[in-house]
Amino acid sequence: MHPDHPQPLRAQKALPLKGSAAVPGDKSISQRALILGALAEGETRITGLLESGDVHSTAGALRGFGAELTQAAPGQWRVKGTGVGNWQNPKAALDFGNSGTGSRLVMGAMATTPITAVFTGDASLRSRPMARVVEPLLAFGVRYEGQGSKALMPLTLHGAKDAAAIQTTVAVASAQVKSALLLAALNAKGASRISQGTLTRDHTEKMLSAFGAKISVQPSGAGEEIILEGRVPLQGTAVEVPRDPSSAAFPMVAALIVPGSEISLPAILLNPRRTGLIDTLLEMGARIDITNRRISGGEEIGDLTVRHSELHGVEVPAERAPSMIDEYPILSVAAAFARGKTVMRGLEELRVKESDRLDAIARGLEQNGVAFEIENDDLIVNRTGSNGVPGGGRVSTHMDHRIAMSFLTMGLASRQPVTVDDVAMIATSFPEYRDLMAGLGAVMEAP
Ligand code: S3P
Repeated sequence: MHPDHPQPLRAQKALPLKGSAAVPGDKSISQRALILGALAEGETRITGLLESGDVHSTAGALRGFGAELTQAAPGQWRVKGTGVGNWQNPKAALDFGNSGTGSRLVMGAMATTPITAVFTGDASLRSRPMARVVEPLLAFGVRYEGQGSKALMPLTLHGAKDAAAIQTTVAVASAQVKSALLLAALNAKGASRISQGTLTRDHTEKMLSAFGAKISVQPSGAGEEIILEGRVPLQGTAVEVPRDPSSAAFPMVAALIVPGSEISLPAILLNPRRTGLIDTLLEMGARIDITNRRISGGEEIGDLTVRHSELHGVEVPAERAPSMIDEYPILSVAAAFARGKTVMRGLEELRVKESDRLDAIARGLEQNGVAFEIENDDLIVNRTGSNGVPGGGRVSTHMDHRIAMSFLTMGLASRQPVTVDDVAMIATSFPEYRDLMAGLGAVMEAP
């Protein structure tokens, strides 16, 4: 996975996709399971953990703080935590690879323990703003040295001794920032009150509760307020990780746009804070059936059947963005095949992802002959004519796994094949992607 050795891949027009595909465990929940396990007393047993680059980076960093993490079998991990406040000084810099979530949550988790750690990562992670996390953590008394005003990595964080609880409002619509503050509050004296004006993914809150934290959540305006009591020990527990809807999104849209397709995607996480893409595709006329809704590991899951569909454009409101923030690249691909205009509003957070995703999407659409406009932070995709998507482009992924998988999906149904410049990064979230897509009948080859 090195930018000096890119692995290009080309996807070409596919025959109908058929079959059932087991997508891997949810990345957000996998990260949190390891981190909470490392903070808890006793043993945490995890099943269904995502075995990907990002998750392994987090596991490596947590070992640096003194937690014991072992893989019993693929997806089955045991974590022996140190107890809240007992992490040790890591002996070396912590390399989080491509993982924004792992690094930012761990910054929060160590912020109220008097230890010092150096955070670094790959070229993509080193270009992402850490100020959004470390600035709010100042309220707990941390100190940091980062690069420039955005506090880029390499960043040194000095955790605070005897931190007191805080009351704050999270300024950005980011679950990572909210989660970092909650994890910091675990070792602060008293009850912290953390508000957010939007409803971002709530896996940290749910899992904290399962680990025995004293946490309550109440609605507040369009968002909510979370109250977390500090210095309450966490107890290791069993965590079952559901399958990742953000990974399921790629075979899902592939089946929608490749004529004649019908696939099933069993046991997908359907937490309402993660289903914005499914809701949007249904509005666009997608034939997605959800059956056997049930609860697994404290989260709602269900089985999806997806059939090729004649999609039409819709307007996606800005308020929906937090529930589908990672899905705009693949929604843009679906929109390219939809009749009429798809308007996606309020995409400013896309600019600080693994790449500037708004720009990467725009360049990819341009390369493949898809008409679009960007107005401020809104993206409007317009199908041109009835001849389908031209394709034929070579797309720059900018070390962004979701850009790579999205434009490969486009190539399965465009007139000409689509090439992406590097697929190595796909392993950060979805190492089985190529095999899984091949199993459904997709053809992707080195150009
Ligand atoms: C994540 C939150 C989102 C998302 C990321 C995973 C998480 O980031 O893009 O892939 O696990 O909390 P933001 O919280 O910065 O929006």
